[in-house]
Amino acid sequence: MPLLTMKQLMKDSRRLATTDSDPKERYAVGAFNFSTLPEMVGIVEGARMKHAPVILMASLGAVKYIGSLELIAECAKGLAKTYPEVPFCVHLDHAVDLDQIKRAIAAGFTNVMIDASKEPYEVNIQKSKEIAEFAHRYSPYGADGCSVEAELGMLAGREEHVQVSEEDAGKAYTDPTLVPRFVEETGIDALAVAIGTAHGFYKAAPKIRFDLLDEIRKCTDIPLVLHGGTGVPDEDFRKCVAMGMSKINVGTGLKKVYTDAVRQAICDLPDTEYDPRKIVGPGRHAIMEEIAGKCDLFNCTGTAEKILQSIYG
Ligand code: 13P
Repeated sequence: MPLLTMKQLMKDSRRLATTDSDPKERYAVGAFNFSTLPEMVGIVEGARMKHAPVILMASLGAVKYIGSLELIAECAKGLAKTYPEVPFCVHLDHAVDLDQIKRAIAAGFTNVMIDASKEPYEVNIQKSKEIAEFAHRYSPYGADGCSVEAELGMLAGREEHVQVSEEDAGKAYTDPTLVPRFVEETGIDALAVAIGTAHGFYKAAPKIRFDLLDEIRKCTDIPLVLHGGTGVPDEDFRKCVAMGMSKINVGTGLKKVYTDAVRQAICDLPDTEYDPRKIVGPGRHAIMEEIAGKCDLFNCTGTAEKILQSIYG
């Protein structure tokens, strides 16, 4: 089974999000940051347990740590062969350098995020359009072999290399009136929106602007993406999904789940134990359990088969 694009993964959730479907039927696909192979496997295993789709996200920091875009793409391709029953894609997260994004597409990433949200609107349009055109034409998998996410508005917090102060972010919720032209002119496949979440741990519970989500949802029928999933209350997630959010990103919280489990394993094992599998294994297992829980929360449990059917018939 080849890697899928985010657009393919979301064909069904997008349909549900943008029609008069029962809000209870709607679901979002979880997107999770990783920086090691055990985390990648744990994420896909968690989705497999729940018969759910999933998105593997490499931040710029993860790319630097792992060493190359090609290595990540090849690992993802290998996972796709090993887990044909799991619909998933490999995504480059919050990338700003157009050349690097094009290299990721050439390496075999099946979704990329061009984050020009800090730039003026016109520049954001122009850069996002350039990437969308490139991704749709030049993927090694052929036409439309890679899809594209872009962002309008700004989230507070630090996402690896991108730092936005709370003050700046507060001024920059996504403006719904800017959405239709942005989507139309860029040709992107999904839109990340700033509606009150932030990257990293929250000091106080986030105040999500559901009114804004409602307005944005009415302005476009491309999938919407919620960033900054760590620490968002379960009820807010459910409401976002019912209101038509199609992709939800979680990073920081998953790192903590992994590291806590590894730390605990080191504490529990005798000093004479040296098998890394006994240390890293519990981390991978903890990730798997966390992803399984998120699949239930995002209501995508049990949707893998119909997604694969919507693609392959
Ligand atoms: P968190 O680290 O806050 O979960 O955000 C992750 C994210 O949005 C990645 O794009």
